[in-house]
Amino acid sequence: MSTMVIGGAGYIGAHVVHLLLERGDEVVVVDDLSTGGEDRVGTASLVELDVAGPDAQERLELVMRERGVTSVIHFAAKKQVGESVARPTWYYQQNIGGLANVLAAMETAGVRNMIFSSSAAVYGMPPVEMVTEDIDCRPINPYGETKLIGEWMLADCERAWGLRWTALRYFNVAGAGWPELGDQAVLNLVPMVLDRLARGERPKIFGDDYPTPDGTCIRDYIHVLDLAQAHLAAMDYLSADGDAAEHVFNVGTGTGASVREVINEIGRASGLDVTADIEPRRAGDPPQLVAVADRIGDILSWKAEHGLADIIRSAWEAWQAGPRRIG
Ligand code: UFG
Repeated sequence: MSTMVIGGAGYIGAHVVHLLLERGDEVVVVDDLSTGGEDRVGTASLVELDVAGPDAQERLELVMRERGVTSVIHFAAKKQVGESVARPTWYYQQNIGGLANVLAAMETAGVRNMIFSSSAAVYGMPPVEMVTEDIDCRPINPYGETKLIGEWMLADCERAWGLRWTALRYFNVAGAGWPELGDQAVLNLVPMVLDRLARGERPKIFGDDYPTPDGTCIRDYIHVLDLAQAHLAAMDYLSADGDAAEHVFNVGTGTGASVREVINEIGRASGLDVTADIEPRRAGDPPQLVAVADRIGDILSWKAEHGLADIIRSAWEAWQAGPRRIG
C-alpha cells in the first residue's frame, strides 16, 4: 500500500512527501524534475516521468501496479497565469492532458483515491469578498480554466468508474516547513520581495489605489506546512469508509492580509528597510480574495495553525538558507 505523489519534488509536493514519510507512509514520487529537485524527496523513491509526455499512461500504470499504489496526490501542473494566457494550448496539453493520463492509468490499475491540486484561480474575479466553494466559478485565465476542468474530470470519473476524490483549492501559499524546502521560484509576492531585496532594490507594490483599507490588494496567505497537512486530512477522509460526499475544499485561513502588511512583516522578520515603490496595477488582480474555510474545518477537521508572522519568518529563514542569502 503506497501513495503516489505526482509533482512530489516541487515546492508544495515536497512538503507533503515529508509529512507522509514522517508518519511512516510508503511514498513513490513521480516528477519530471522540470522545476522540482531530486534532493527534495527525502527517502521516498523517485520515478522521473513527465505525465503529459508520450507513454505516460502506460508507465504510470506500471508503477501503480508494481508499487501497490492505493492513492494519488496530483500536484504536477503548469501554474503561471501570464504564461497560460500567452500559451493556452500548451496549458491544456500539460494540465488537462497530464491529468487525463493519470486518471486513465488509475482506472486501469484500479487505483481509486485522488487528491487534486486546484486553485482559488477557479473563482476569477468573484463578486464577493469572502468566497465559499459554492459561488459561481468563472476563471479569467487558461490556468484557472484548467483547474476547473480538472475538477469536472474527477467528477465524471467518479460517476463512470467510482473514483473517490477531493480537490483542494489553494489560496496564496507561502513560507517553508523546513528551510531547505523553500519556494525556489520567484513568481509570487513573498519571493518577489525577497528577490528585490537580495538585489539591493526596493520591493514593488502593484497598485495602492484599490478599495481596501490601505489601498493594496488583500489575499489569504496560507503556510505551506498547513496546506500540506490539509492533504493528509483529505487522504484520511478518502480512505475512511463512508461516502466522502463533499469533494471541493477551500484551503485558506479565512483571514486576509494586504500587500503592504506582507511587506511590513518581511521588514520585521529581516530587519531590512522595506520601503516599497508603487507601480501601476497589475492586470487581472482582484482587490480582495479571501477564503471562507468553514467546510474544510467542519468536514476534514483541518484548520490553519500558522499566521502571517510564522509564514514570513519561515520564508525568510528558508531564503537565508539558500544560495542568495541577504547581508
Ligand atoms: N504583488 C505586488 N508586488 C510584487 C508581487 C505581487 O504588489 O512584487 C501583489 C499582486 O499584485 C497581488 C498580490 O501581491 O495583489 C499577490 O500576488 P501573487 O502573484 O503572489 O498571487 P496572486 O494572488 O496573484 O495569485 C495566486 C497564485 C496563482 C493563483 C491565484 C489564485 O500565484 O497561481 O493566487 O487566486 F491563480
